Amino acid sequence: MKINQNYSRLEESYLFSTIAQKVSAFQTDHPKTEIIRLGIGDVTLPLCSAVVQELHKAVEEMGHKDTFHGYGPEQGYPFLKASIRGHYAVRGVHLDPDEIFVSDGAKSDLGNILDLFDVDNTVLIPDPVYPVYVDTNLMAGRKIVYLDANQENGFLPMPDEQVKADLIYLCSPNNPTGAVYTKEQLKQWVDYAAYCGAVILFDAAYEAFVQEDDLPRSIYEIDGAKECAIEFCSFSKTAGFTGTRCGYTVVPMALQREGMSLNHMWLRRQTTKFNGVPYIVQKGAAAVFQEEGMQQIRKNIAYYQHNAKVIADTLTGLGIWYTGGKNSPYIWLKCPHEMKSWEFFDWLLQEAHVVGTPGAGFGKNGEGFFRLTSFGDQDKTAEAMQRIQKLLK
Ligand code: MLT
Repeated sequence: MKINQNYSRLEESYLFSTIAQKVSAFQTDHPKTEIIRLGIGDVTLPLCSAVVQELHKAVEEMGHKDTFHGYGPEQGYPFLKASIRGHYAVRGVHLDPDEIFVSDGAKSDLGNILDLFDVDNTVLIPDPVYPVYVDTNLMAGRKIVYLDANQENGFLPMPDEQVKADLIYLCSPNNPTGAVYTKEQLKQWVDYAAYCGAVILFDAAYEAFVQEDDLPRSIYEIDGAKECAIEFCSFSKTAGFTGTRCGYTVVPMALQREGMSLNHMWLRRQTTKFNGVPYIVQKGAAAVFQEEGMQQIRKNIAYYQHNAKVIADTLTGLGIWYTGGKNSPYIWLKCPHEMKSWEFFDWLLQEAHVVGTPGAGFGKNGEGFFRLTSFGDQDKTAEAMQRIQKLLK
């Protein structure tokens, strides 16, 4: 018996688990201190009423013989796919229902999609980055080439034709930096992928936060993307489903490699290893893209965007460099006083009782940077900013 030795190449624990342990140890030592958490990007507003109503109806249906649902289609119920198609159509992107796969969230699919690709592929991953892309490839033993994202390129690295890649991860609006690619920049990525024969794994989990209309929210807004990109999206940040779990992945029919359809491969993989998202959850998710649901989630997103502005204004007032926050729920800032990321994390926790995410946890280029989330409660976010202002003035 041999175990998968690739696990020994991983960090001791997943970034957000490490942070949770540190915060919990601090709380145990200081039980009366009120800690404000702006670390993990977890939402704080409840599900909107249009969703809750549909969830209730679906629960009721499940309790009656004639409306009960057992196993559903592994790739999602047609009513939810229709709702997702409608959402894409607004941006001029037309999808076939069979190109949409409903899942329990972007994180699982981003990891699971690797089943489709040989371990000998070279993977291009920006640094800093959402740790899931790196860890899932390390677990499989794949070779990773890092792409430098830094202050100079606005944390939006562009392709380099000298570097040949087979798989490319892009996330826009970006986690952790909040930076957003323009259509022209994404077009360069699509052209580069076509040139290399590579596949882009495009994480669009934060698309709902894009405010500027000319910025792309889906890679399929770019010509040629259906031949080279898979897109991952989620109801987590869009509609507060972090605890409810529902997402979707788009694998276009036009995406073919070595005579195989990646859509058919993914269908084969999902029908074998996945039994679908609960009917109840899918009913709730379908309400998100209906008129009433859309109005309600827009209100919730505006609530978080207000937090982002409060954070951004505080940093501007303190003369601290940052990016993100405008078309993204994340604000990525340079640690004050030349501090290292974890040093600033500890200092902020000790002195202001505010939790953020150390940039170094997202890669070597994150060292010296720090991420704050706008997903907190408005009063607590304002209080956290007052504490930070007092500490840094
Ligand atoms: C984050 O804080 O980066 C996200 O919440 C992680 C995730 O979506 O899994």
